[in-house]
Amino acid sequence: MYDTGKVITGLVIFVGIFTFAFWYTAGTAAPRPEPKLDTPEIQKMAKKQCVEDTQFMITTHMQLLNKLRDQALRDGNRWYVNSKGEKVWISLQNTCLKCHSNKKDFCDKCHNYAGVDPYCWDCHIDPNRSEL
Ligand code: HEC
Ligand code: HEC
Ligand code: HEC
Repeated sequence: MYDTGKVITGLVIFVGIFTFAFWYTAGTAAPRPEPKLDTPEIQKMAKKQCVEDTQFMITTHMQLLNKLRDQALRDGNRWYVNSKGEKVWISLQNTCLKCHSNKKDFCDKCHNYAGVDPYCWDCHIDPNRSEL
């Protein structure tokens, strides 16, 4: 037999998650930020793509970074094999920020908008920071 209570709770949670992006942004006045992609490294690319699908990167880059860090440091394996089977060298500074060399107009743009301030830069450096 179905447990109606659980099914309804599940449905409510599902609908909540499904429409989250919708009501979360409702009433926000500021327009969605547009992270800039016009870096020298990205301009050189024939096919403009990230290490994973764009949609995945937008929603899941935080978890991906955690996973990459664990793989690189705990397992000592610095090659990440992405979903296309390509090998990507794991490095926040030398991989992510090689292509996204415009941290201020890219990472920071979204983070300021979303009100998050990743603490990564307490230790990691932005190799392109001009004041260094
Ligand atoms: C080889 C170059 C390259 C590397 C390395 C790279 N990116 Fe990207 N990234 C891109 C390109 C190009 C896009 C835009 C793809 C598109 O327009 O569909 C992108 C898109 C993104 C986006 C979505 C931006 C948006 O709103 O459209 C995020 C977030 C992102 N990258 C984060 C990262 C992180 C974190 C890393 C390191 C794990 C990383 N990228 C490594 C080239 C790269
Ligand atoms: C398309 C917008 C966008 C871009 C571009 C972007 N981020 Fe993010 N990032 C976010 C959002 C939104 C969050 C907060 C997500 C949450 O709280 O669940 C976040 C969270 C994070 C977190 C986790 C922070 C925390 O305190 O939990 C890290 C680490 C991070 N981003 C790294 C990066 C790096 C590095 C880049 C640039 C290479 C980047 N992000 C580019 C939107 C973006
Ligand atoms: C307390 C200092 C500290 C903080 C804060 C920190 N890291 Fe690291 N991280 C390190 C050190 C040290 C290494 C090891 C460097 C090495 O062996 O190459 C490392 C390695 C990594 C690596 C794998 C190797 C590399 O060169 O990128 C990733 C990915 C990474 N960190 C991501 C993050 C992210 C994402 C954040 C923020 C959410 C963060 N770290 C915050 C100290 C820190």
